[in-house]
Amino acid sequence: MWRKVILSLVLVAFVGLQLGESDGKVSEKNIILISLYFYTGNSLTCYSCNSPQSCLNPDTQVCSNATANTTTDWLNAIHSDVPKINTSEGYKCMNLTYFIYANMSKTAEILGCMRETVPFCSLTLNVSNSATWAKNCKSCTTDYCNRNPAGTFSKSTYTIIACVVALILAKLRSI
Ligand SMILES: *[C@@H]1O[C@H](CO)[C@@H](O)[C@H](O)[C@H]1NC(C)=O
Ligand SMILES: *[C@@H]1O[C@H](CO)[C@@H](O)[C@H](O)[C@H]1NC(C)=O
Ligand SMILES: *[C@@H]1O[C@H](CO)[C@@H](O)[C@H](O)[C@H]1NC(C)=O
Ligand SMILES: *[C@@H]1O[C@H](CO)[C@@H](O)[C@H](O)[C@H]1NC(C)=O
Ligand SMILES: *[C@@H]1O[C@H](CO)[C@@H](O)[C@H](O)[C@H]1NC(C)=O
Ligand SMILES: *[C@@H]1O[C@H](CO)[C@@H](O)[C@H](O)[C@H]1NC(C)=O
Repeated sequence: MWRKVILSLVLVAFVGLQLGESDGKVSEKNIILISLYFYTGNSLTCYSCNSPQSCLNPDTQVCSNATANTTTDWLNAIHSDVPKINTSEGYKCMNLTYFIYANMSKTAEILGCMRETVPFCSLTLNVSNSATWAKNCKSCTTDYCNRNPAGTFSKSTYTIIACVVALILAKLRSI
């Protein structure tokens, strides 16, 4: 979310500065920024893993038909009623964790991209002893949002903030 907020602010600032200048033409730099904004605005990146062990160090994946399908396969391994994915829908990031309530030990953990219409937080378990499992489920729609603690900046977000600050400083100096 921060990435989009920051890019929007930069976009507004640059277009504003550009209009304030006498020639008023749109520079290449602005076109690059605008394309960058729309590029990042249309993709969602989620953490991805399918066991308590692998979730200690999850991968990341850009949401697509194929990655949502992978998550569907993981959900199918322990649930009986996972609907087929609907290719015309958008995506969400999810973190679905099951644990033994009595001692909080994790029995299953699935992170990944999912089609937004699939009710992945209310699926039916069909593994043995699952009656003793408790559930924690989170869905969200911003990049890297499905890992604890939520809202932590990723390395790439820091890189983007650094570039943005550098660009703004350069622009201010050239006025
Ligand atoms: C997306 O995946 C589903 C399930 O495998 C498949 O039926 C569908 O054809 C795929 N759609 C596209 C556009 O790749
Ligand atoms: C989705 O998963 C099914 C079953 O694993 C596979 O046959 C199909 O090719 C996959 N589709 C995509 C788009 O990855
Ligand atoms: C749970 O149900 C699904 C769908 O019926 C099945 O594909 C899967 O193998 C089952 N898993 C277990 C552990 O029984
Ligand atoms: C897929 O999504 C479209 C558009 O939202 C909807 O009309 C259709 O009924 C959905 N199909 C299934 C199988 O859920
Ligand atoms: C938690 O409880 C379950 C069921 O009683 C048991 O199988 C499991 O080994 C326990 N885990 C830990 C870490 O104590
Ligand atoms: C997923 O959610 C559970 C429960 O809130 C949490 O314990 C776990 O750390 C989360 N997974 C990751 C990889 O952040």
